[in-house]
Amino acid sequence: MSLNIAIDGPAGAGKSTIAKLIAKKKNLIYVDTGAMYRAVALYILRQKTDLEDAEAIASVCREADITIRYEDGVQVVYLNGENVNAFLRTEEVGNTASKTSANPAVREHLLSLQRKLASENDCIMDGRDIGTVVLPDAQLKVFLTASSDVRAKRRYDELVAKGEAADFEKIKADIEQRDYQDMHREIAPLKQAVDARLVDTSDMSIEEVVDTICGLI
Ligand code: DC
Repeated sequence: MSLNIAIDGPAGAGKSTIAKLIAKKKNLIYVDTGAMYRAVALYILRQKTDLEDAEAIASVCREADITIRYEDGVQVVYLNGENVNAFLRTEEVGNTASKTSANPAVREHLLSLQRKLASENDCIMDGRDIGTVVLPDAQLKVFLTASSDVRAKRRYDELVAKGEAADFEKIKADIEQRDYQDMHREIAPLKQAVDARLVDTSDMSIEEVVDTICGLI
């Protein structure tokens, strides 16, 4: 049986940064399920599907063939054969993914791919429902969180460092809206699994978080 570590938590809690570092340290593959939801959202945006039309989203998402490859240890997402990594990290795609991921057909479309990756590889997988739905038998589950102020400040600093325009209040409002959507959808909402360890990173450095989780492994 492969070693599976589940990391769940809200947007901006540092899941991907931490999971990547732990993957490297412990020789695991890092599975970024948010990127898969983002790739489906990208397809839906490109098709100009009405985001309020659940039936249209359900049918359009089935046309999106998502495959994952690891190139130099980095997860590369292919959408119908195209490497779309460069298009996934925009606010528009993230906000759309938060909406479209509430659609049951979208979740079903990605679930078997996620489970297959975990059954074939020792991995650390991050997302919203990994410990609760995707990998209920993961050997370690962590719920990583931080206050919305801290998460918005991290995102703000990231944008400023890249020389991009950033509005702290708008970023914070977007994060809070995504938290609400991710926590209140009917299927696989974001919540801490009963057997998950809570790690609040608000006042922790990246190194401290990595050490804490490595200690739990
Ligand atoms: O982690 P992220 O910001 O890349 O995720 C984008 C959106 O995808 C997030 O707002 C909710 C959705 N998502 C999900 O519903 N389930 C997951 N396991 C991962 C992401």
